[in-house]
Amino acid sequence: MHFDCQERYPVASQHPLAHNIDYTLVPHEIIAQRIRELGETISRDYAGQEVVLVGVLKGAMPFLADLMRHISVPTVIDFVALSSYAGTSSTGVVRFQKDVEEPLEGRHVIVVEDIVDTGLTLHYLLQTLSLRNPKSLEICCLVDKPARRKVQVSPKYLGFTIPDRFIVGFGMDYEEHYRNLDFIGVLAPAAIAP
Ligand code: IMP
Repeated sequence: MHFDCQERYPVASQHPLAHNIDYTLVPHEIIAQRIRELGETISRDYAGQEVVLVGVLKGAMPFLADLMRHISVPTVIDFVALSSYAGTSSTGVVRFQKDVEEPLEGRHVIVVEDIVDTGLTLHYLLQTLSLRNPKSLEICCLVDKPARRKVQVSPKYLGFTIPDRFIVGFGMDYEEHYRNLDFIGVLAPAAIAP
């Protein structure tokens, strides 16, 4: 169960770069409500057990921070940082810049990511983490952009499905900016360097 986002809301932000946002795709209140629901679902699914949330830096940071506060089972957090080799987005060659510090063997692991696009990043990460023999391994993703999928990745926990647009805000960036917007917006084409 997830929300299909097609609506356009006006941009009501005081953010100095807000003029670069064409329109709001997911307003803050809707994000907050959806994250609460995801946290409650995870709490029910893992009742009586501990979960390890593995956030993918940097984009998952605000999502993970909000999500963990709606999870009522014992929760441990850790982070990975990944980078694609230049020009390899079509091959899925991804490299760890930072690995987790927690041992994952025998534990319930949920990878927390901002957005799944081609799926290459999460596909690589899941393959790598599964080699550490977690008891279970799932994905919790705020946004899914299925139109551009190259490899099959199916988040068990998903916030929103969106059309093929470049979005920013709530952790997602364009050239490291806009991560601090509290809503998800579509970047104006004019704000994207040719
Ligand atoms: P994938 O490997 O193609 O699934 O890409 C995943 C990563 O690409 C995400 O973690 C984001 O960092 C980035 N990304 C993909 N689409 C967008 C977008 O619309 N806005 C911002 N970042 C994006």
